[in-house]
Amino acid sequence: MKNINPTKTKSWQILKNHFVKMQKVTINHLFKKNKNRFVNFSINFKNEIIFDYSKNIIDKKTIYNLINLAKETNCIEAIYDMFYGEKINVTEKRAVLHVAARYNKTSFFLKNKSIYNNIDSILEKIEYLSNNIISGKWKSYTNKKIKNIINIGIGGSNLGPLMIIESLRAYKNNLNIYFLSNVDYSQLINITQKIKPEESLFIVSSKTFTTQETLTNFISIKEWLIKNIAFTNLNDLLSQHFIAITNNINAAIQLGISKNNIVPLLSEIGGRFSLWSSIGLPISLSIGFNNFKRLLEGAMEMDNHFFTSPLNSNIPVIMALISIWYSNFWKTETEAVIPYSNDMRFLPQYLQQLNMESNGKSIDRNGNKIFYETSPIIWGDVGTNGQHSFFQMLHQGTKIIPCDFIASVIPNFFSQNHHNKLISNFIAQTQALAFGNIKNNTHEKNIYKLCFGNNPSNSIFLRKITPNNLGSLIAFYEHKIFIQGIILNIFSFDQWGVELGKQIANIILNNHFEEDIKNNDSSTNGLINFYKLFN
Ligand code: F6P
Repeated sequence: MKNINPTKTKSWQILKNHFVKMQKVTINHLFKKNKNRFVNFSINFKNEIIFDYSKNIIDKKTIYNLINLAKETNCIEAIYDMFYGEKINVTEKRAVLHVAARYNKTSFFLKNKSIYNNIDSILEKIEYLSNNIISGKWKSYTNKKIKNIINIGIGGSNLGPLMIIESLRAYKNNLNIYFLSNVDYSQLINITQKIKPEESLFIVSSKTFTTQETLTNFISIKEWLIKNIAFTNLNDLLSQHFIAITNNINAAIQLGISKNNIVPLLSEIGGRFSLWSSIGLPISLSIGFNNFKRLLEGAMEMDNHFFTSPLNSNIPVIMALISIWYSNFWKTETEAVIPYSNDMRFLPQYLQQLNMESNGKSIDRNGNKIFYETSPIIWGDVGTNGQHSFFQMLHQGTKIIPCDFIASVIPNFFSQNHHNKLISNFIAQTQALAFGNIKNNTHEKNIYKLCFGNNPSNSIFLRKITPNNLGSLIAFYEHKIFIQGIILNIFSFDQWGVELGKQIANIILNNHFEEDIKNNDSSTNGLINFYKLFN
């Protein structure tokens, strides 16, 4: 992996000049000029996913220049480095193995092949646990079937499984899956009010097993269980009701998890990339192990596409380049993700962590301060709901906000009537954003009703939201973010920025609630003292 400042490349300078020309061009003009724009600027992935990027302010020259940027910043070499298991997570001195977790044995040649023995045994454990729990073989301490699974975890140990399980609601079995992530006690109470302890199994998901929120929730849930089930043997009670997923096996054992109930998580799998690993156990519990494997296979198919396709027909690469084009040349600040699927409502939140925790950095791989844009702000909500709130700004606001629209041709819950309406709204919005109502000089006369258009979007149209297609879609975003990190010369696989807040929270918790506080800045003192007034 080479550490190249992208702004010092020849292609960056060319793109700067090209941008000056493209500023005078509109999406409307581009479509008028090129009647084959959809064919030229879309990629069909296995007839399962269409990626249409034609409604962007780009032409063939833009893509050509951006591809040159990818070449000049050594993207191809970086892709090989990731797939070959090089230690590209430099600041943590680790390889990055979420691709290996997809069980991609055949196509790539990871240096450390023994890694697959670990992955094999983890997958076997996921299968074993899923089959036992779903079938009712796994019994609670009081010999009841398990009805409720409660995942206790936060960040990557929460968002991936939550997003996938909700997106694949149509594939769910009869287990109820709950997610306890926040240290706000309200969430814990809300869940415990809905479940019976003797029918509930808790999965403590934490790579480090040191995360304050997760350990606090785990300990409170343990106390709740102990209070609510009459028992004679504490170890037996805990081993019938708690599973842990972690890279820190000793800590889990010390906190009372039975050794047999621990599913290891490899240190080389980052939290936000971990849904394919043991962290995916709740997914496998919710949709069954066979469907979980289909999810992994779908991701593996996207890995193959990413690894083998030329840069100019490579979906994650094109998507990364378009994002860099807007954030660094058009100076857009945000990107909206708008799934036209209610079940995919957690996707924007999931992509927020994936993108912003990976690329929200301002020091480059050479250790220098960065003076260009790295991660865009990711936000969004489902269509059509968003149309009745923030879409006003997309259509008539002062900012350009590139959007990703995601929809499926075949719904998982069928009503032709509802689905025709949902999809016509999705397509209509991409058209209205791109072209506005100023076409052909027959435009709207009332100035307040004018929509100028030229608002860019990608459309990602799935045949259906299946485990396989969802796996491909998520892998496609993972690789997009990886390519952005490579081009922007940052380390995408660490997250040191989140540590400072954790440290200060501990100082406030451990010292400042006890004494009269004067020694912070006046705002921090004021807030602490207000809290103490009522505590
Ligand atoms: O604080 C950020 C973070 O480290 C994320 O990267 C991670 O997904 C989350 O916390 C949870 O960490 P863990 O799985 O170790 O509890």
